[in-house]
Parts: sequence; structure tokens; C-alpha cells
Amino acid sequence: MSTKPSRYTVTAALPYANGPVHIGHLAGCFIPSDIYARYLRKKGEDVLFVCGTDEHGAAINMKAQAEGTSPREIVDRYHGIIKDSFDKIGVSFDIFSRTSNKTHHETAQAFFKELYDKGSLEEKVTEQYFDPEAQQFIADRYIIGECPNCHYEEAYGDQCENCGRSLSPTDLINPKSKLSGSTPVLKETKHWFLPLDHLSGKIKSYIESHKDWKPNVYGQCMSWLDAGDGLQARSMTRDLDWGVPVPLPDAEGKVLYVWFDAPIGYISATKELLGDKWEDYWCKEDTKLVHFIGKDNIVFHCIIFPAMLMEHGGFHLADDVPANEFLNLEGKKISTSRNWAVWLHEYLEDFQGQEDVLRYVLTATAPESKDNDFTWKDFQTRNNSELVAILGNFINRVLVLVQKYYEGKLPEYGVLPSSDLEILGALKTAPADIAQSLEKYRFREALGKLMALARLGNKYLADEEPWKKVKTDPERTAQILFVASQISAQLAQLMEPFMPFTAEKLRNALGLKSLPWAECAKEIFLASGSEIQTAGHLFQKIEDVVIEAQIQKLEDSKTDTSPKYEALKEEIQFEDFSKLDLRVGEIIKAEKVKKADKLLHLEVDLGFEKRSIVSGIAEHFKPEELAGTKVTVVANLAPRKLRGVLSAGMILMAEDSNGKLSFTSPPADMPNGSIVR
Ligand code: 2FM
Ligand code: ZN
Repeated sequence: MSTKPSRYTVTAALPYANGPVHIGHLAGCFIPSDIYARYLRKKGEDVLFVCGTDEHGAAINMKAQAEGTSPREIVDRYHGIIKDSFDKIGVSFDIFSRTSNKTHHETAQAFFKELYDKGSLEEKVTEQYFDPEAQQFIADRYIIGECPNCHYEEAYGDQCENCGRSLSPTDLINPKSKLSGSTPVLKETKHWFLPLDHLSGKIKSYIESHKDWKPNVYGQCMSWLDAGDGLQARSMTRDLDWGVPVPLPDAEGKVLYVWFDAPIGYISATKELLGDKWEDYWCKEDTKLVHFIGKDNIVFHCIIFPAMLMEHGGFHLADDVPANEFLNLEGKKISTSRNWAVWLHEYLEDFQGQEDVLRYVLTATAPESKDNDFTWKDFQTRNNSELVAILGNFINRVLVLVQKYYEGKLPEYGVLPSSDLEILGALKTAPADIAQSLEKYRFREALGKLMALARLGNKYLADEEPWKKVKTDPERTAQILFVASQISAQLAQLMEPFMPFTAEKLRNALGLKSLPWAECAKEIFLASGSEIQTAGHLFQKIEDVVIEAQIQKLEDSKTDTSPKYEALKEEIQFEDFSKLDLRVGEIIKAEKVKKADKLLHLEVDLGFEKRSIVSGIAEHFKPEELAGTKVTVVANLAPRKLRGVLSAGMILMAEDSNGKLSFTSPPADMPNGSIVR
């Protein structure tokens, strides 16, 4: 885009709602996108910053299956946690939506239907792995077997993580389904594919027109386009029972591929927020569209999604895709499954009031051009030696001295020497200088320039020593504190995109409003006579014990993956056991018991009769999701009343070491009333 954009659409990759977000996600795309959006807003641009949770795909199903719960329960839980933690860390989305909502389903279906009606999709019957025990087709990721290339035994159906080779599930030697552990069988299934070969020329020229993209992004796209098998047709549908249903009459049990629907999520979130005005942000050529993502999402955002948009027609394509590399943690890859992560919601609990510290550290160490490492020690050093010792210390000294010497009223400054004018001159040029880095998505560099101003201020005070001069040279002291206050004011303005909470505190102390970026290109922000207050310590020193506790927590949670088992109860005789009458039942109705947080009142079909049973599971399951659940019932337990409601029997539940409950469900085809023994 050569002319100045009329508006900006900024997206941050939709996080999967199958777990909380961690510092890797934040450093990869959420902090940089937020800095960019805040900067653009401060420039006075028309900006739309969209995100939401990605609530479909095999990963959500797997998580639900692993926990014995429903995908709906999983996505509701994590949408809440993720949204709340983004709010608290100050990620300023205009909307944080979700792909399971109605607008998104309708938008994604209409998009698919348009491609179908135009004849852009190819219907094909192929053979895919099916788990005979779980009775479902299995996503490539969830088939494991021996890699034909390096013979690593736990290669995934789409890739061997040991040798890096891309695989098809049928390449695996001795494949096993991760769902049930059984050997999958090939079964025919029909799907709709998006052919890409006829678009390859268009896609290539699109990418080639963006040689200005970050080298990691441009390079990955080109190597994908140049690979022999790069642009084969890709299936846009899946056999799953959770997702956006394929909007065709003969597509029972089929949903849109998650990578088809997720990027459309950006568009549906815009519709949800703006109604008909959504088109301005997605279709007009004078809109600048920027996708912030992690490097594992490059192909989808730079090739597949643009191909979908080209095929559909009427859309503006991304102008930039500033993908980051990965952030490691203490020298190791961040891993959700091994619980090797710093989780945002836990950080926010453990470091209340220190949200900007994490924003600062993740920006200062952002993996912009290569993978980088987060360590707790480095986090502590950056806080103590940079935020506390330089930025915080400088500002605190200025505000305290103005209070002490002038009762908070900025003094007159007479005629400033040229060295002071030079410093004020640096304040004037700082916005353009920092903007230059921000416009190129060099957030580390931009933050470095901001900190250079703080260093300049710190050095100025250390060199000038107003606390000594106050006794001998009151005029010069007034000048020093006048100039130092201007530096503080500029810091308060320009730190806003990076550290919004601290910026606000400091602006309040200085009695300043947030100024548009262009208006920050000046020397004097506070006139003599302005009243300013102290702001307390903007940053707190972080002690060794705090850091050691975090490192310990990480180590403990890493090794804490194996469940703890309760000791066995004392031995019983067969006769004891045979007194129990266990039956297969099916929940037909469930509702909350009034004034009892833990209890659900269930109606259970035992085949030969229906039973009223009260069960202490209300904190684990939603009543509206229970109808149809098969359960094992202790059918001869003496009836009793709980909160006035008859309970004639008991539902057997499994409980893990964390207190999480699952039903001990017999298979769906086991008739109600069957005996369990
Ligand atoms: O990799 C991921 O976490 C995906 N959920 C990102 C989706 S981005 C977009 F396309 F929605
Ligand atoms: Zn391999």
C-alpha cells in the first residue's frame, strides 16, 4: 500500500479455547499487536483491533475427551479465563469474540456456501483413518506411529517432530489412534477440497509484491510456494461432531475445517461489533490489514486464507503479517502438555499491580527475528535494573524534588543553557524516531528508544546533582527540575503503547492528558506554575525469594504430571461387593436443587423404571448438557431426602487427583437397566 491508509484492521491470532494463554502467546502476537493498535489510536487513526477464541478443531475435542466433558464446557471455561486475563494485562481489543457464536457460524457457512455455489470446491471421496473403538474419524495429529524416515516411534500423522518430515497418516508404520489406543482402519469419506493449483500464480505474485515483509515470513511463504507439492487441493471439511456444520444437505456429521473457519472469525467478530460497517474494514482497498501471528501460523495467513479470500472475491488481502518466532522458557520449548509454561492468569495473580512489568520484559526480549528465551532471572534483572533503577528512579526523583523544593509547583526557568536545549530537542524528535521503529513492527527497538530517554534523564540528574546545587545555585536547580519534568512528561506520553498502566499513573501525577502522537513532538509539556504530584514508586524491586518461588513452581508443576493415587481402602469379601446392585442408567432430565450450590436433581431412566436421584455434581456439569448421558447407578441404595428432594440411588463418578469428576459411562448402545458387575 503506497498511499496513506484510511483505516486499519489489526488482528491477533485467535487463541484455541482449550487452555489458558501463556507468555509464549503474549510475546508471539498479543503484546506486539496491542502496542501497534495503541500506537495507531494515539496517532488518531481509525483502528479496529479484533480477536476472539478459536473454539473448534480436533484440539478442543481431544481436551473434552481427556476430561470426560463436553467441548462446550471446555470452550466456555477457557474463553472466560482468556478474556479476563487479556483485560487485566491491558490488551485493548475492540472486540474479543468467539467462533462458537451464531454470527460466526452464519458468516463461515455463508462463505463456504458462496465457494460451493461458484463451483470453487471439489467434492472427493478419500480413505481416512477411522477409530473403530471410538467410532469416529481421527484428525491427523491424533494418529501416532513410527516415522518411515527416522523410525521415531511417536511421530504424528501430519508430522514427525523428531526429523521434521511432513507426513500423511498413511505413511506411519504401525499407526495407533490417540483416542482409544486402537489400530485405526481406513474408511471412505466424502469431503470438499479447495484446489489451489490454479491460484498459484496469483498467490505467488501477491507474496512477491510484499518483499517488505519480515524475512522469516516472506522466506517461509516462498519456500512453501516453491516446494513441489506445495499447492495441492486442501480439504476444507472434517468428520467431527463439534464445529461449524457444513451447510449442504448431504453433509451430516461434517464440519468446516478449523483453519477454514478460524480466520473468518476475524471477519465475523467485525460484523458482530460494527454491523454493516464491517465491509469498510475488510473490503476497501484503502484499509490496511495487518495480521499479528506466531510463526506456526504463517502459511495459513499468507497463503490459505488469502486463497480463500481471492476465490470468494470482494475482499482486501493482508498488507502485512508480522509473525514472530517462538519464545522459549528457561532454555526449553514452552509446552502445554508438559506444563512447561508461565500462564498469564497465574502471573496476574502472583504479580498483582505489575502487569506492565511483564509487558515490558516480553517486549524487550521479543522473539522478533529469532527464537528467544524467557528466564525468571532475566525478568528480575530487567525489572530491578531497568524499570526500577532507571525509569522509576528517574521519575521518582523528579517528582519528589519538585515537591520538596517547590511544593509541587513547577518553577520558572529563565534562560536555558544550550545543553538543556539539546535535551529538550531530543524530546521533540523522539516521537518520530520511535514511530519509525513501530511502523516497521520493531517493538524491541522502539522500546529501547523510549528507555534511552529515561537513561538520558537519569544521567542528566546524576550529572547536574540538583540536590547539591539547591544550596548554592537555586536558579540552576529550578532549570534542572523544569527540564527533568519535561522528560518525565514525554516519557508518560510515549510509554503509553508499551506500559499503559504506568503511563496513566504518571500522567495523573503530572496532570496531563494523553496527547495525540504528533502533538508529542515538542519540547515543553508542562509550563512553569503547573501543579504536579508525586506518584509513589512506579515499579517495585523484585526480591530473589519471589523469583526462586517462580522457578520452583515451574519445576514442581513440570514433574507433577503423574496423578497421585489415594491409598486403597481395606479389603472386602465378594459377599460385600455382591450386595451392590449396579445398573446402566441414562439421565433424562437435570436441574439445580434450589439453594444448594453443589446439588443437581436428576431423573434417571433405569429401563424398568425412572428414578429421582440427587447428585453432588453441580459444580462440575451444566444441567442442560446432561440429558442423554449414560451413567452407572447404585440402584439398591436406601432412598433418602437431600434438601427435601428424594434421592433413590447414586451415580458412580470417577474423581482425579485434582478433584475433577467424570461419569463412568457405559457405551451408548448398552440398554438402560443392564446389570454392571
Ligand atoms: O494456532 C492457533 O493457536 C490458532 N488457534 C490460530 C488461529 S488464527 C486465525 F486464523 F484465527
Ligand atoms: Zn522422523
